[in-house]
Amino acid sequence: MSQYWSPLVQQLEPYVPGEQPKDQRYIKLNTNECPYPPSPKVLAAIQQELADTLRLYPDPNADLFKDAIAAYYGLESKQVFVGNGSDEVLAHVFHALFKPDQPLLFPDISYSFYPVYANLYRLSVKQIPLATDFSLDLTAYTPANGGIIFPNPNAPTGSALELAAIEQLLQLNSSSVVVVDEAYVDFGAATAIPLIHQYPNLLVVQTLSKSRSLAGLRAGFAVGHPALIEALERVKNSFNSYPLDRLAIVGAAAAMQDQAYFAEICQKIIKTRTRVVAQLQALGFQVLPSAANFVFARPPLGNAEAIYLALKAQGVLVRHFNKPRIQAYLRITIGTEAEMDVLLAKLSALVAV
Ligand SMILES: Cc1ncc(COP(=O)(O)O)c(C=O)c1O
Repeated sequence: MSQYWSPLVQQLEPYVPGEQPKDQRYIKLNTNECPYPPSPKVLAAIQQELADTLRLYPDPNADLFKDAIAAYYGLESKQVFVGNGSDEVLAHVFHALFKPDQPLLFPDISYSFYPVYANLYRLSVKQIPLATDFSLDLTAYTPANGGIIFPNPNAPTGSALELAAIEQLLQLNSSSVVVVDEAYVDFGAATAIPLIHQYPNLLVVQTLSKSRSLAGLRAGFAVGHPALIEALERVKNSFNSYPLDRLAIVGAAAAMQDQAYFAEICQKIIKTRTRVVAQLQALGFQVLPSAANFVFARPPLGNAEAIYLALKAQGVLVRHFNKPRIQAYLRITIGTEAEMDVLLAKLSALVAV
């Protein structure tokens, strides 16, 4: 705290990302990164861009990336907004599209950046509890609101919604913006993107950090009606004209174009997830159904924090949230087959104690 801080900064409670320790090499299963490298075509595009152009500003509109997204999903570029990771896209969404006069609705157990953005942009919030089985019941999103946001699949639970449930919510909620955060959608859920043509209040946000192995490049996007996209562009161009650098633009575009590599990565992770779920269950863990690149699992004795600490001491990082309702669970990112073998061997020893 300092006398020089603005009143806004004095009351901020910043987001705390999953730990990225530098003291030793860990098996990192704590921030839902992809264990496989990005497509070789991404690396080739970045290499080529490196040759000469870094002295020049990038395209402020990142058209190459926007066009690649539009081509992938059969959209027009004016339906696409891009940003420096989906976190930045989400920040602009909170600023540009949610109204402060009514509460913003989101699940009580969800992506922990939502309350942080709401506080930054002075939005009131109403958190809607997940059902006792941790499923997200959109029929509970009835209060008058200044906007609605939820991830599909949800994080950190991994559970996915049917598109019919999202469509019903959109029909009952035509006067405010509904944002579906699809950071994990490629690992087993259905995207709501086809619904943007019918619902001008729907915005779908995705990232290249997970299924396209580019967490380090920082590229994310939103798609929706051109009027929603224009609102995001207005905020972005009042903040930073060049959020995506030249390497990110060419790399992200190449990642969207390499569909075969993307499909292969997703299939590999889904296959590993299936066997990890079965093996965790065999060890007595209660595992929520997951459509994401992570699982949310309760150790047999519910001693999640102790197991998290023991794994960390042995060089394996998973995520534990010391929060009501979920302290007894661990969120475990799906890594390579070999990484999961190490994790399962250690868990087997830990739960036997
Ligand atoms: C639900 C959800 N949304 C958005 C993000 C942000 O991803 P990025 O900023 O890397 O695109 C994450 C990251 O873990 C997430 O879990």
